[in-house]
Amino acid sequence: MKVLLTGGAGYIGSHTAVELLNGGHEVVVVDNLSNSSVTAIHRVERLTNKTIQFYEQDILDRPGLNEVFDKENIDAVIHFAGLKAVGDSVSDPLSYYHVNINGAISLCQVMSSFHVKNLVFSSSATVYGEPTKVPIDETSEITDAANPYGRTKLMIERILEDLCHSDPSLNIARLRYFNPAGAHESGEIGEDPSGVPNNLLPYVTQVAVGRREKLTVNGDDYPTPDGTCVRDYIHVVDLAKGHLAALNRLQQKPGLVTYNLGTGKGLSVMEIINAFESVNQIKIPYVLGPRRAGDIPTSYTNPDKAIAELNWQAEKTIDEICRDAWRWQEKNPEGYRGA
Ligand code: NAD
Ligand code: WQD
Repeated sequence: MKVLLTGGAGYIGSHTAVELLNGGHEVVVVDNLSNSSVTAIHRVERLTNKTIQFYEQDILDRPGLNEVFDKENIDAVIHFAGLKAVGDSVSDPLSYYHVNINGAISLCQVMSSFHVKNLVFSSSATVYGEPTKVPIDETSEITDAANPYGRTKLMIERILEDLCHSDPSLNIARLRYFNPAGAHESGEIGEDPSGVPNNLLPYVTQVAVGRREKLTVNGDDYPTPDGTCVRDYIHVVDLAKGHLAALNRLQQKPGLVTYNLGTGKGLSVMEIINAFESVNQIKIPYVLGPRRAGDIPTSYTNPDKAIAELNWQAEKTIDEICRDAWRWQEKNPEGYRGA
């Protein structure tokens, strides 16, 4: 298949490109590089010994996107492109609604005019808001997300649902990721946040490499075994493989499908620090701080639906996540900027 990855130069997109290319697919990437570097594309090409058709292109620019679809004969799209920082979405909601929602609409319109029927969408466990029970499965209640970023994911999910109702020939998978972490085991591609990392693992690796002095643990008085928040950390390579499984599923079961992608195992912030320290033999200085606004105590998936229907399961352990995240950071202390 020829697969277009919007946002394919980013963290999850670049890892998915590797798996697609290794799986014998052709890859086209559209990315405006607002949160990524073209170096990631070059490294994916080097890792796989294959070529990517790369377009530095904003998905909001419809004529430009049209040209890409006109040149390439796209079979399926994986839509990663968008803004993803929860805190920024609170201070600048309009940018989030504009880029994420209009971006998705623009993409779907162009796909429609070129009769491209297969779409995989990067959604997020954030759509479940504060869960009433864990583990979270795909039937868990969705009321409202906790922040504008989460709401954009929720709204796009609904738009895709309406679209499928309006056109039964469409095949759409909505993938709700839990907490993607780690890096390709080569250490050549990984997560490269700009500014202060929001997410736990990138913060830990930046402390380890000396870019930050210490980690602040955001609260230790949650109703969890050790008082720190529990999350379902999924290795980014496992997650990338989940996209291939979803593309396969769309061939067998047309229409709209929805899957949680996580491991099914919850780990606390302290367990992550301990795992990182013991796997990599590096001390992570940390202090206990107050709770972070909007954090929920516990989130992890029930992975059964994905296992049964996608024939896919996360395989990598937290030790592999910590080892690979560190290999990437150690080889690239300044991320792609140092390349
Ligand atoms: P990322 O920021 O590394 O990748 C997103 C890519 O989209 C970047 O390369 C960016 O340059 C590009 N982009 C942004 N706006 C664009 C536009 N208007 N036109 C073209 N390209 C544009 O993020 P990621 O972690 O790889 O996330 C990929 C997707 O998965 C996002 O939709 C994100 O919301 C979703 N997601 C991420 C996580 C996570 O924790 N990383 C969790 C759940 C869901
Ligand atoms: C995990 C835990 C923090 C940093 C976010 C988004 C979610 C999804 C994935 C996109 C929490 C704690 C963190 C630090 C800390 N993204 N922490 N010190 O919040 O579960 O999910 O990323 O869809 O929408 O909200 O992940 O990595 O930010 O935090 O103690 O310096 O680590 O408070 O308990 P989160 P995270």
